[in-house]
Amino acid sequence: MPGHRDSLTERQFRRLVDLIQTEVGIRLPPLKRTMVEARLRRRVRSLGLPDLAAYGEEVVEGPVSRDELVHLIDCVTTNKTDFFREPAHFDALRGTIVPEALKALPKGAPLKVWSSACSTGAEPYTIAMVLADMAGHAPFRFQVLGTDISTQVLAQARRGVYPAEMTEAVPAALRQRFVMRSRDPEAAEARIVPELRQLVSFGRLNLMDASYPVERDYHVIFCRNVLIYFDRDTQRRVLDRLLGHLRPGGYLLIGHSESMACHDHPRVRQLMPTVYQATSPKAHAA
Ligand SMILES: C[S@@+](CC[C@H](N)C(=O)[O-])C[C@H]1O[C@@H](n2cnc3c(N)ncnc32)[C@H](O)[C@@H]1O
Repeated sequence: MPGHRDSLTERQFRRLVDLIQTEVGIRLPPLKRTMVEARLRRRVRSLGLPDLAAYGEEVVEGPVSRDELVHLIDCVTTNKTDFFREPAHFDALRGTIVPEALKALPKGAPLKVWSSACSTGAEPYTIAMVLADMAGHAPFRFQVLGTDISTQVLAQARRGVYPAEMTEAVPAALRQRFVMRSRDPEAAEARIVPELRQLVSFGRLNLMDASYPVERDYHVIFCRNVLIYFDRDTQRRVLDRLLGHLRPGGYLLIGHSESMACHDHPRVRQLMPTVYQATSPKAHAA
């Protein structure tokens, strides 16, 4: 049982909650406190501090450095993801979105897709698998960008190594081409093949920032299962900024429980429950 030296005070936890909401947009509910404290205890050990109370006094109550904030963010973000999560989106990508986008694509230009809260990479690698498979039938160039605020998940995404059972959601034909099982049966790990990894680049990006240092001509943006952590105003600001990086006619895909965030947005029209298309050139200029 953690003693009182091994937990944050009420005031410290509230300060942490406010800091995270300001920096990341995520409102941590009181129910998450146990999880956050458990994760912070690991950080306490790696800093060589005696207990969580010392972390509370020395870090949470003080001015939190940018470096420490990176670790704090890693401790509080929820990174659950899967290959082919919400598979209807990948059917839409293959069946409608890519064929439509390719019609308007100048010869030789790449199709550009951005996975804007990519977690450990299952989402951008799923996108790359679908695009590589399509391009195998009728060649076209493409680029996939994955960004996230958490440095930990990005490191994992770049490695492209997953528990083997996680890759079971990849359809067998694609799994055979793009996923290698570890030679060590004990390891129960699977790795994305280098040829696919090369097609995906990763970078750190905070959706709360006032502007995003990425190009403004994406054909498709995935922003799934992250808006749900933001309040309504933050959702709207994030969507406005994301739409500024989409070409007119480009597509925005959000998580199945996030449609409220988009349903009345004036710059998109709904194609499917969680698939939207940028309507006006203003979306491009914003
Ligand atoms: C639940 S995962 C969703 C991953 C993937 N999009 C999917 O649907 O499977 C949410 C991700 O959003 C990231 N995230 C949270 N706040 C963020 C922010 N302000 N900017 C960028 N990424 C953020 C988290 O680090 C986490 O990896």
